[in-house]
Amino acid sequence: MRWLVLALLCLQLGEGMVRIPLRKGRSMRELMREKGMLESFLKGDPGRKYQLSNAVAYEPLTNYLDSFYFGEISIGTPPQNFLVLFDTGSSNLWVPSTYCQTPACAKHNRFDPSLSSSFSGISVNYTLSYGFGDLSVTLGYDTVTIQNIFVRNQEFGLSLDEPSRPFYYLDFDGILGMAYPGIAISGYNTLMQNMLQQSQLAEPIFSFYYSRNPTYNYGGEVILGGLDPQLYSGEVLWAPVVQELYWKISIEEFSIGPSATGWGGPGRHRPVGPRAVFFRPISGHFISAFLQALGAEESDYGFAVDCSNVPSMPTLYFAISGAQLPLPPSVYVLNNNGICTVGVESTYVSSASGQPLWILGNIFLRQYYSIFDMANNRVGFALSA
Ligand SMILES: *[C@@H]1O[C@H](CO)[C@@H](O)[C@H](O)[C@H]1NC(C)=O
Repeated sequence: MRWLVLALLCLQLGEGMVRIPLRKGRSMRELMREKGMLESFLKGDPGRKYQLSNAVAYEPLTNYLDSFYFGEISIGTPPQNFLVLFDTGSSNLWVPSTYCQTPACAKHNRFDPSLSSSFSGISVNYTLSYGFGDLSVTLGYDTVTIQNIFVRNQEFGLSLDEPSRPFYYLDFDGILGMAYPGIAISGYNTLMQNMLQQSQLAEPIFSFYYSRNPTYNYGGEVILGGLDPQLYSGEVLWAPVVQELYWKISIEEFSIGPSATGWGGPGRHRPVGPRAVFFRPISGHFISAFLQALGAEESDYGFAVDCSNVPSMPTLYFAISGAQLPLPPSVYVLNNNGICTVGVESTYVSSASGQPLWILGNIFLRQYYSIFDMANNRVGFALSA
């Protein structure tokens, strides 16, 4: 919930490549069946707790400086449009509103409740904290639309006050939290919960594809209610969620090249929160050992390495659910016009267990397509297309 600030500290420029259009000839179910996915999803959820529909929403994401990936949703009747950050590290939905008069609000799309026939307010105010700053919201209910998915009576925050830092400077209007209800403000039924309860999804999952060559216009997509087997290859590796607040999974070992670091181990939980923002591992006291192993040095623009050394730098390995997920230097080193930096930063988020907490953000998620299974509480990774 308080992790977003780090993303602001490490903006990277995009490379500007053209995306190859996807073929959507076959149905999701056909493709899933072909890959043997459908059966395993169905098997994993014997009770079929939720009534499912046929709806899968393919929501394109805009990539802003490789740091934020956001898409359009609408709220109200008739619909009012907003760009929101799809955030697996928080659980609330909020957008700017006409109740807010600050410059940050005036610069963004603002929800006007008086223009929506389906709006109802509940005059309860809350503060939402994202670490870089707080904003206050009042709660209301309205219809939320994402592509072909409609959620009625969704509780959401209408901003009352947004400070200029950082909100004035953000390219998106609001945030759509996709983590568990336990970290939402009290009584809040999350949008994802409501999608399930209102039978809006074909499968109780959502998945993220971040393009390896993001452009502003196409950074990737979030798929609600399904996955797209054309966007990844090979097997999906599943990891159980160890605590249903964030999407926290455990890392058994982390290796730099052939050397295990011991920053993991059987039976010790390494909580990881894959989220839609950053690759941001390692609590403060691990980062210096990590950077030393890579030969990186702290500089004004980040952890710098010599670009000519990148081919000989070690591959990083995350051991998750008994498999090794490699991250080669060509992926974790960012080259901005000849200035090379390691796409890693230390997090100030403390881990309750005192063990290293990693946040697998956009560098990791560009390499690995990620699937969030809400029925079986597990996270899946597969090599991104
Ligand atoms: C919520 O905030 C608004 C604007 O500051 C204020 O007018 C209203 O009285 C507050 N409501 C409650 C229930 O505190």
